[in-house]
Amino acid sequence: MEPKIERAVFRDLSYGLYIVTSGSEDRLNGQVVNTVIQVTSDPPRVAVIINKKNLTHEFILKSKVFSATVLEESTPMTFLGPFGFRSGRDIDKFSKVAFKEGITGCPLITEHALSVLEAEVIDQIDLGTHTIFVGNVVSSEILKKGAPLTYQYYHQVLRGKSPPNAPTYEAKQ
Ligand SMILES: Cc1cc2nc3c(=O)[nH]c(=O)nc-3n(C[C@H](O)[C@H](O)[C@H](O)COP(=O)(O)O)c2cc1C
Repeated sequence: MEPKIERAVFRDLSYGLYIVTSGSEDRLNGQVVNTVIQVTSDPPRVAVIINKKNLTHEFILKSKVFSATVLEESTPMTFLGPFGFRSGRDIDKFSKVAFKEGITGCPLITEHALSVLEAEVIDQIDLGTHTIFVGNVVSSEILKKGAPLTYQYYHQVLRGKSPPNAPTYEAKQ
């Protein structure tokens, strides 16, 4: 079949914004993602999509666990910047943020956070540039009530961009 793709259609898809974390030995890392989805209810399972170049990818592969923090709408760009545009290979992203250790050993970010969950990886799919990790949720907790940060709000109000390692990257933004 000859593909007939209007890329603007992908901008109509809706997402939230999250920080996914993982750890390896004594090192912690995390990154912004727009790709956390619940994939089954019983048992509760979630999936995340992570670029193979990211340090977080290396840590999830090794540890087989990850956490996700649901961010509040008022999360500032100054907080998102290091997690979304810098690599843990160059900076320690945890030196200045509030977090607690989860039951999997993953850091759970508690700053600008509405809720947190942790998952143990049960399966993964190689997508070329990215991997989908599917995990059983082993803990989840509401930290406070509020409106979650959406991808639409990030783009339209915060005027944020998506870097090349994001699955939704567009060369011209
Ligand atoms: C709005 C936004 C959405 C993003 N979504 C994803 C995503 O879903 N998956 C992904 O692998 N990277 C995503 N990224 C890119 C990573 O956050 C970025 O490459 C990060 O620097 C990786 O850090 P690390 O090398 O410390 O793991 C996103 C970035 C932003 C700003």
